[in-house]
Amino acid sequence: MSRPNLAHLLTAATVLAAGFFSLDAAGQAPPPPLTPIALEGDVARGAVLAETCKGCHGVPESHNAYPSYHVPKLGGQKADYIEIALQGYRRGTRSHATMQAQAASLSDQDIADVAAYFAAREGEPELGRSSASALEIEEGSRVATACVQCHGQGGIADAPQWPDLAGQHESYLLQALHQYQTGQRSDVLMAPIIAGLDATALNDLAAYFSAQPHLHQTPIE
Ligand code: HEC
Ligand code: HEC
Repeated sequence: MSRPNLAHLLTAATVLAAGFFSLDAAGQAPPPPLTPIALEGDVARGAVLAETCKGCHGVPESHNAYPSYHVPKLGGQKADYIEIALQGYRRGTRSHATMQAQAASLSDQDIADVAAYFAAREGEPELGRSSASALEIEEGSRVATACVQCHGQGGIADAPQWPDLAGQHESYLLQALHQYQTGQRSDVLMAPIIAGLDATALNDLAAYFSAQPHLHQTPIE
């Protein structure tokens, strides 16, 4: 018997992990998971492109209208994660009409450049906007033990393709958690973790991570 070829085994494992052989409820194979863009980001070029983005992402009180939640902070977020998020909007697997329109106009190089810009953005670590009580934050810190494996202790992720949650706005975190639970936003890692949590747990988790200082709102210059 010939020795198994490692490259083939790895490919098979990747394909299986991507869920290519499973079909979703509509009988469609799910799209392959996104990976970061293999291009070097140019921070200076990204700063120019980001002018369009700051009208929403650089204004602390900026809200999405329906449903109402704070526009997420990007300052200090991981470049690889921003690249994955923008590609998700661009190919339509992350839903949000305005962001889909924004991302549709960006090339791979543009995405690498804006991601590099926001990741490198200097700023004081901030708390997220939140109306949570100390009790909710305390409860959230207990449930959050299920999240540290990927999102890190206190919400700063170890892997560059996983989002930092620390200091993100509470209402946006809650919106994202609801979307994973309803399937409006899909991710093979997040979906099973969130599936069994009740509304109180989701509220407390959003409260806890928004109360950890880190991400900052990029000011408009
Ligand atoms: C009109 C307001 C608006 C503009 C302009 C805008 N965004 Fe957004 N952006 C949003 C909203 C609202 C969301 C949250 C959407 C959702 O719920 O998925 C978002 C989400 C994102 C996310 C995902 C964040 C996360 O934590 O997952 C990224 C990355 C992003 N925007 C980048 C950009 C870039 C880059 C630009 C400029 C080219 C831009 N946005 C322009 C409103 C805007
Ligand atoms: C096995 C790894 C893993 C674990 C454990 C995990 N997550 Fe995630 N999480 C991810 C990945 C990967 C993403 C990005 C998925 C995507 O692109 O939509 C993510 C995304 C998120 C987002 C969206 C962030 C944004 O900016 O849009 C939230 C909120 C979140 N996770 C909360 C949690 C909470 C709360 C827990 C614990 C109950 C948790 N996660 C546990 C891997 C994990």
